[in-house]
Amino acid sequence: MTDSHHISRRDFIKLATIVGGGVIGTIIGIPGLVYLLDPALKSEQGETWISLGPLENFEIGKPTLVTFVRSRVNGWEKTSSSYGVFVLRKSETDVVVFSNLCTHLHCRVNWVEEKRAFVCPCHDAAFDIDGNVLGGPPPRPLDRYEGEHAKIEDGVIKILFKEG
Ligand code: FES
Repeated sequence: MTDSHHISRRDFIKLATIVGGGVIGTIIGIPGLVYLLDPALKSEQGETWISLGPLENFEIGKPTLVTFVRSRVNGWEKTSSSYGVFVLRKSETDVVVFSNLCTHLHCRVNWVEEKRAFVCPCHDAAFDIDGNVLGGPPPRPLDRYEGEHAKIEDGVIKILFKEG
């Protein structure tokens, strides 16, 4: 009669080597795995103050487009996007900053001096100099950076920008 539960010394050493190797491999491998996966589990997002330039750079009564680029890291992926806002200096100290995105389907609006209006090329919409809808499908005025989302600091116009 043979004992099916009997393990020879050789088999025991083989088994111990395999189990021991697996444990050591796991202990060594975990930090490497965490290092590799860590970026994929993180995404950078948030609000940031963007400088639009010194107040005196902006002509009173004329909306001026300011563009800037933001880079975003999402896991291993890094993307750069360009954004734009219109700065309207209404007086020596009074400034309004508009998003340049149409409130209909987010096409970029342009300031057309002859019409004294922001014009959206996508569906023929227009907004007045204060961002109010003059015509077309937009459901609301142009979005503004105001209150705690805009400031003038040391003579420089800044907005608190949040990537969507
Ligand atoms: S996106 Fe501007 S009118 Fe449609």
